[in-house]
Amino acid sequence: MKVLVAETAGFCRGVRTALEMTLEASRSKAGEPLCTFGPLIHNRQVLAMLQERDVSEARDLEDCRDKWIIVRAHGIPPDQRRRLKDVGRGLIDATCKRVARVQAIIRKHARKGYHVVIAGDEDHAEVIGLMGYTEGRGTVIQKPEHVDALPNWDRVLLVAQTTQNEEVFRAIVERFRKKFPLGIVENTICGATHDRQREVRELCRRVDAMVIVGGYHSGNTVRLAEVARECGVPTYHVETEKDLDPGRMARYATVGVSAGASTPNWMIRNVVRFLEGIEPEMEDKGAGWKRRLELFAYNNLGCSLAAGL
Ligand code: F3S
Repeated sequence: MKVLVAETAGFCRGVRTALEMTLEASRSKAGEPLCTFGPLIHNRQVLAMLQERDVSEARDLEDCRDKWIIVRAHGIPPDQRRRLKDVGRGLIDATCKRVARVQAIIRKHARKGYHVVIAGDEDHAEVIGLMGYTEGRGTVIQKPEHVDALPNWDRVLLVAQTTQNEEVFRAIVERFRKKFPLGIVENTICGATHDRQREVRELCRRVDAMVIVGGYHSGNTVRLAEVARECGVPTYHVETEKDLDPGRMARYATVGVSAGASTPNWMIRNVVRFLEGIEPEMEDKGAGWKRRLELFAYNNLGCSLAAGL
């Protein structure tokens, strides 16, 4: 099988920095209690590796008492930061610079009395952190149609979760500008997200199927899979190569691989090796027909039916 791997697949700078800071802390503070506040990244294999290095995962404030606390790349609300400082030995702040920039934009406008609309997932740690900067005037929306239900505020700012789907955000901005001609829009989707989504769209034109590697709870990985599906390509979101069915994958001659910003390189390599070891059932020509059939099913009958073809 021919496998095309996205150049942008895998760790973004923010995740790499957070992981390096955590590993460095596990060395420099060896013997002292060290925890991350919530999972450092949404990748079970990396979290297991951290546990082996005695970095525990705290779920609440009590879990953090008297420990060194690592603030993960997603950031936290300011009141939580204050409380963590009170209970812990000290904070090691691994908030991604790009997330910190969005926090600063929100804080600046919230202080001037703006309502803040965040396009993102309200349960995601980054969005929970961003909401903390809105001074109680924040609203989270997921879809363009949600703009219509917003009150007619005079002062309003729209930002995006840094890993938002660019197409979805574009559609939200369009509606937002119609409803709030004087509203302020800041496209806060980070460069790493932009590059990964763009490359997935490009790859989709050259392959019979896409495999996206990364945690099932990783928002940016889920969005990459969403972007590939939007392109009409059969898409498989997997955590490891064990989640792939070789029989099913053998139906494709050329497969593209990308991965979320929290997926380590070794996990991508394992998936690529696994795919490369599969003998495709059909030559490119046959696979082309198969792909056209699947594309038809994807576009007209729904993804689950297509995946079962
Ligand atoms: Fe930061 Fe963007 Fe990664 S916001 S954590 S560089 S996906």
